[in-house]
Amino acid sequence: MAHEPWSPDAYLTFADHRLRPALEMLARVPLDAPVCVVDLGCGTGALTRAARARWPTARVIGVDSSAEMLDRARVEASDGIDWREADIAAWTPAGDAARPDLILSNAALHWLGDHDRLIPRLLKTLRPGGVLAVQMPRNHDRPSHTLIKAVAADGPWAGALADLIAAPNPVDPPEAYARRLLAAGAESLDLWETDYQQRLTGGPEAIADFTGSTALRPWLARLPDDAARAAFVADYRARLRVAYPPLPDGSVLFPFRRLFLVARRSATPQG
Ligand SMILES: C[S@@+](CC[C@H](N)C(=O)[O-])C[C@H]1O[C@@H](n2cnc3c(N)ncnc32)[C@H](O)[C@@H]1O
Repeated sequence: MAHEPWSPDAYLTFADHRLRPALEMLARVPLDAPVCVVDLGCGTGALTRAARARWPTARVIGVDSSAEMLDRARVEASDGIDWREADIAAWTPAGDAARPDLILSNAALHWLGDHDRLIPRLLKTLRPGGVLAVQMPRNHDRPSHTLIKAVAADGPWAGALADLIAAPNPVDPPEAYARRLLAAGAESLDLWETDYQQRLTGGPEAIADFTGSTALRPWLARLPDDAARAAFVADYRARLRVAYPPLPDGSVLFPFRRLFLVARRSATPQG
C-alpha cells in the first residue's frame, strides 16, 4: 500500500474549523473525574491537551499511527501526556495500567472500516460506567467528497482507483450507531449531527486545501507521479469552483456535516 504521510502543517491550516467539533464533543462528556483517558487518532494532540486541561489529574494517553502527527504533538507543551504510536484497529489497553474511563476519538474512526465490530469493541474496552465519545465527518455525499470520486471515475486513473471508487461511505447514518451501541450495552446515548457552515476566506480553492490534507490523501497516494497528481487536483479544483460559488467577498461557504456519539457503558455490563 502506498505510504500516505500526514502533513501536520497542512492539517493545522484549518485548525479552528477542525478543533471546534472536538471541543463541542468534549463538553458533552458526562464524567467528573476519569482516572484514565485515551484519545484514539489523536493527531497533533489538540483534543488530547484539552482533555488534560479539563481533568488535570487523569492519566491521558494519545494514540495515533502517524509518526509525523505524533512528532508534532510532542513538540507542543503536553504536560505528561503519553503519546503512543499504534494502529487503532489493533489497539487494546493491554499495556496500560487500567481500562480507560473515557475513550475520545475526533475525526479518526472513519479511516477504519467495520464499524459493526469496532464501535462495540471500543465500548466494551471501557471500565463499567465509562464513556465513549466519537466525532466523525459525514460529508461523504456532498460535492467536496463526491467530486473526488467523479474525478477518479472520469480520468485515465479510473482502473487503478476502482476499489476506492467502489468503496461505500465510511460513516453510517446515526441510527446504525444507536443500534450498535445499545446492543453492546450502552446505558445512555447522546447522538447528534451538526452541519457546520464553514466559511473559508480563501474561496473555493480553499476547499481543495481543506480536503487535500485529509480526504484526498488516499487517492493522490495511489497515482503514479506528480504529473498525474497535479492533473487530478486541477480537475477537482475546477469542479469545486462550480459546486461552491464564492460569496461576494470572495470567501465560500463549505457546509460540513459531522456525526457525534457519546455513549456510557453500563455500570453493570452483562459480559
Ligand atoms: C483528521 S486527523 C484527526 C486528528 C485529531 N483527532 C484532531 O482532531 O485533530 C485523523 C488522525 O487519525 C489518525 N489515524 C487514521 N487511521 C488510524 C489508525 N488506523 N490508527 C491510528 N491512527 C489513525 C491519523 O494518523 C490522523 O492523525
